[in-house]
Amino acid sequence: MSNLEITTLLSEEKIQNRVAELGKELTKKLEGEEVVAVCVLKGALMFYSDLIRHLNIDLKSEFIGVSSYADRAKSSGEVKLTLDLNSSVKDKHILLVEDIVDTGLTLNYLKKLLQARQPKAITTASLLLKPDALQEKCDIDYVGFEIPNDFVVGYGLDYAGAYRNLPFIGQVISLN
Ligand code: IMP
Repeated sequence: MSNLEITTLLSEEKIQNRVAELGKELTKKLEGEEVVAVCVLKGALMFYSDLIRHLNIDLKSEFIGVSSYADRAKSSGEVKLTLDLNSSVKDKHILLVEDIVDTGLTLNYLKKLLQARQPKAITTASLLLKPDALQEKCDIDYVGFEIPNDFVVGYGLDYAGAYRNLPFIGQVISLN
């Protein structure tokens, strides 16, 4: 594991409370819809699994994989699809669940890709947003927390593949 100096930015309790709130709001919005909840791998895995347990509705679960960071702490600016959905989303209401919106490139790429498959609607939820890092306009329906433009790890988010299993979100003080 790499040796990063990390301080807690969002505690486990704070994250869990907010995820429960988002679950309630999304339950209201998605009731009665034919929902396909799409987890954006790998970073959203924790947020997704906690969030869907707070959704009091019927839903199908799907996974999509993208990569833009390779092993770096900065976006390469190029989004690559690494895993596609397993079933059709035509006429379904997609709930697209992201870990973090940084430049906005990944979410916009995914929305365009999924829109082309003719869903009834796409609702987007991201646990984190770095407003100061946005490079393009990016509309997100539900945001857990807005955070400063610093690199963060934990609760699914990684640095070079490590730290995803931390139960809190940590801010990286120094990258060695
Ligand atoms: P974007 O395309 O720049 O908005 O970046 C989206 C993806 O980059 C996210 O889904 C994350 O996987 C990754 N990412 C962005 N910022 C961070 C960070 O601070 N820590 C870890 N991963 C990040």
